[in-house]
Amino acid sequence: MRVSVAGLGCGGPSRLGLRANKSEKEAIALVRQSLDLGVNFLDTAEAYGTEEIVAKAIGEAPREQIIVSTKKAFPLADPGNPSREVRKGLEQSLKRLRTDYVDIYHIHGVEPQDYGFASTRVLPVLLQLREEGKIRFVGITEAFVEDPAHRMLKQALKEDHWDVIMVGFNMLNQSARKAVLPLTRDREVGVLVMFAVRKALSGPERLREVWAELALRGLVDRDSCNPAEPLDFLLRDGKASTIVDAAYRFSRHEPGVHVVLTGTGKPEHLKANIESLSRPPLPERTLRRLAEIFRKVDCVTGN
Ligand SMILES: NC(=O)c1ccc[n+]([C@@H]2O[C@H](COP(=O)([O-])OP(=O)(O)OC[C@H]3O[C@@H](n4cnc5c(N)ncnc54)[C@H](OP(=O)(O)O)[C@@H]3O)[C@@H](O)[C@H]2O)c1
Repeated sequence: MRVSVAGLGCGGPSRLGLRANKSEKEAIALVRQSLDLGVNFLDTAEAYGTEEIVAKAIGEAPREQIIVSTKKAFPLADPGNPSREVRKGLEQSLKRLRTDYVDIYHIHGVEPQDYGFASTRVLPVLLQLREEGKIRFVGITEAFVEDPAHRMLKQALKEDHWDVIMVGFNMLNQSARKAVLPLTRDREVGVLVMFAVRKALSGPERLREVWAELALRGLVDRDSCNPAEPLDFLLRDGKASTIVDAAYRFSRHEPGVHVVLTGTGKPEHLKANIESLSRPPLPERTLRRLAEIFRKVDCVTGN
């Protein structure tokens, strides 16, 4: 698969703007804007309610030029018959997406205690669907909020089954660098990053709160940053235009990361974010400083 490093996230807190009461027409325009700006990777899910919007935005564009990633909601509503539920879920997604195959079909938000079921009962169905040509690649996404230290993915990557994974990774919680990325590199698994920005890296007030919480728990050294603007050094030494710019560039240039998802409901944010994802890495000394400051953190998501 040849993918753009910027992937449009059609879920998350923005859901293409639908969560802020934007219209379907505006959401479709946002997806089209991303395609016009060179994005070829669209990530949706049955749970997001945006598959039809993706289909309408793709319209008559050649299907093979766009990578469509979607997901089966998990845990299953009917664990007694995974085959029936997963097949029905995929058929419904294909119908909403107006296509006869998806490029990546993930099991969505698998928590560590449910991985065994996902692997032994759901994966075989996905592999069969891949054989049938309805799925090109099988994927699994973590439940980063419940599992910020990646316990599920560590289990999943012991096995050589998954073509693609989705992992939470950002400047505040860099734990995937050691816990996940060496394993995906070994197994040549495609890596999609979510949570590159979220609330704490797009809102100064939330960043101060997260910083104070981490300092209180002894997970960061209080004197290593200015508590009023903990990441203000990025705008100087990091040569970033904003913290959001630094955050997308940080994730995009991490070795082993293939696609960084950006979720927004605002055309001006989408344009800026794609520009950020096209910029060079942050300077080496800034990356070292970030790694040092947050080296003990594997318990926050950036929400
Ligand atoms: N377990 C899973 O499978 C899972 C879980 C979560 C997410 N995902 C996927 O990952 C995608 C990305 O989600 P994410 O939430 O992690 O995305 P994100 O890009 O890290 O964060 C999105 C948040 O940042 C804000 N934002 C974006 N650009 C901004 C800018 N330039 N300036 C200020 N604020 C900005 C957005 O608000 P505005 O609308 O105001 O821009 C939104 O609140 C989702 O859409 C979904 O496809 C998957």
